[in-house]
Amino acid sequence: MCGIVGYIGQQQASPIIIDGLRRLEYRGYDSAGICTLENGELQIYRAEGKLINLENILRETPATGSRGIGHTRWATHGKPSEINAHPHKAGDFVVVHNGIIENYLKLKEMLQAAGHNFSSETDTEIIAHLVEENYKGSGDFETAVRKTLNEVQGAYAVAIICRQEPDKLIAAKLGSPLVVGQGQGEYFVASDIPAMLSHTREMIFLEDGEMVVFTEQEMRFTDLAGDELQKQSKTITWSPLMAEKGGYKHFMLKEIYEQPRAVADTIAGRLQAEEGDIYLEDIGLSDEQLQQLDKIFIIACGTSWHAGLVGKFYIEKLARVPVEIDIASEFRYRDPIVGENSLTVLISQSGETADTLAGLREAKGKGGKTLCVCNVVDSSIARESDGVIYTHAGPEIGVASTKAFTTQLVALYQLALKLGRVRGLLTADQCREQVEALLTLPRKLEEALEIDGHVEEISREFMNARDFLYLGRGNQYPIALEGALKLKEISYIHAEGYPAGEMKHGPIALIDEQLPVVVLVPRNDTYEKVVSNLEEVKARGGKVIAVVSGDDSELIDKVDAIIRVPEINDDLMPLLTSIPMQLLAYHVAVFKGTDVDQPRNLAKSVTVE
Ligand code: F6R
Repeated sequence: MCGIVGYIGQQQASPIIIDGLRRLEYRGYDSAGICTLENGELQIYRAEGKLINLENILRETPATGSRGIGHTRWATHGKPSEINAHPHKAGDFVVVHNGIIENYLKLKEMLQAAGHNFSSETDTEIIAHLVEENYKGSGDFETAVRKTLNEVQGAYAVAIICRQEPDKLIAAKLGSPLVVGQGQGEYFVASDIPAMLSHTREMIFLEDGEMVVFTEQEMRFTDLAGDELQKQSKTITWSPLMAEKGGYKHFMLKEIYEQPRAVADTIAGRLQAEEGDIYLEDIGLSDEQLQQLDKIFIIACGTSWHAGLVGKFYIEKLARVPVEIDIASEFRYRDPIVGENSLTVLISQSGETADTLAGLREAKGKGGKTLCVCNVVDSSIARESDGVIYTHAGPEIGVASTKAFTTQLVALYQLALKLGRVRGLLTADQCREQVEALLTLPRKLEEALEIDGHVEEISREFMNARDFLYLGRGNQYPIALEGALKLKEISYIHAEGYPAGEMKHGPIALIDEQLPVVVLVPRNDTYEKVVSNLEEVKARGGKVIAVVSGDDSELIDKVDAIIRVPEINDDLMPLLTSIPMQLLAYHVAVFKGTDVDQPRNLAKSVTVE
């Protein structure tokens, strides 16, 4: 997730901006850049890699001036490189941007036809060109920016400066965060509070569709129609560490709450609602190759493997291609039968997991095609795969994967829809219906997060259990596995996930009054069967925590605790039932006092075999 810092005042902007960017480092980034403005001259410096590389450049050739904008970039469109690093310039306009512009290809074509030349692979660069183009008509910086923001679709936080109107800095937000800091005769703008906390504690939070125009003397807020807005500042009392976590106690909780946005970003730009189709720009396979596939392997580890288990349901249901799923460390040594018409899908948040990378090489070595679902642009797995579907979860810092998992599910669903369309199994209308359901997901995830307080109470009640059992059927079975993994890795309580129908073949022997059993029982075709499994648990004295959908009241008298998630179609329900799994594990761990973000013995990226 990119970081933005802007400054306008009487001090030198560059050290303030660099310091602010350093305080946003926790967000993760792969390149950085700055632009200051002095005596009508734009001074732009950018560097790939860590901030120190940019600082080394600035030591040689300082960026001077008392206004400027800076950026740390987490790649989304285009690999991490100096060329793709922000700021981006077009004519006299310089922009830094956080978010994703969904209609950038269309706008780029239009701008190219109008004679604009692009130097990067980013969606951001079109903003600078569009402002330049719109300035031609109006001759007014503010009007040109407002017109531009009305033309772009997607999510953004932007800060923009202009050589011809050097006394101004403009910033705006839609979807991505942006905060304004108010100092004495100076103003700051940043994507997060820690960037400004050492200068001011007076902050104003921009809302979606709001824009702010700064000069040294004043700041003025408007909406995108140009109507003035009155905004109140808030005094922030957080410590710097609290601020990094956005006020959340742990990164994991922050990341759980980031899921509506992460999912929206992963959906963005890929749905062609009118055409009833899915657009996956880096898939690396022609429609003809997708039609010819006779087998799909899914290879991953841990939580990513659980996403793969759900992906198998998606692909087999929507595209009718047989899917074999393997844990990467097994796949690589089992001499799999990989043919030239097979596709191996690697799933990895980090893109660096050694076993998954080895699985990729194994499949490639046998002549199969490869595609990865990955969260880190240009990571080893992304580079070596023939194609990639990026999840746009942003950096995940908590060791226990949360938002990476739900965005992986979205990416796999998109792949299944694409395959279904190309292979003639889904009509445009059917695909459009699924696309519309996908679009409701961010809001439903927000609704699902409202159960947090209730899950916390349930966690308090069960925190002393020695073991937990998680049960689910069909596409809820992988969520049972994921719930058990989340709990064991951060609370160190032993937990097992089981297919609900398999319980009677062994684990039923474990059930007694001491054992909490989490049963995933949303309304679907196997509802009655899971209810029977739940009754089997109750009959043996087990304590049942049921996860149900909508206003289902059938189970209230049968269970010890009930957690509700909103209704959604059955394919997408695993995303919603994941939320209580994450929250339950989180709160139990907090009650037990374990190190939630960095559990013992675990690393975020497992680069050894
Ligand atoms: C669990 C978790 C791990 C990872 C696994 C694969 O919360 O995070 O199980 O899912 O180590 O990592 P990636 O997805 O980076 O390949």
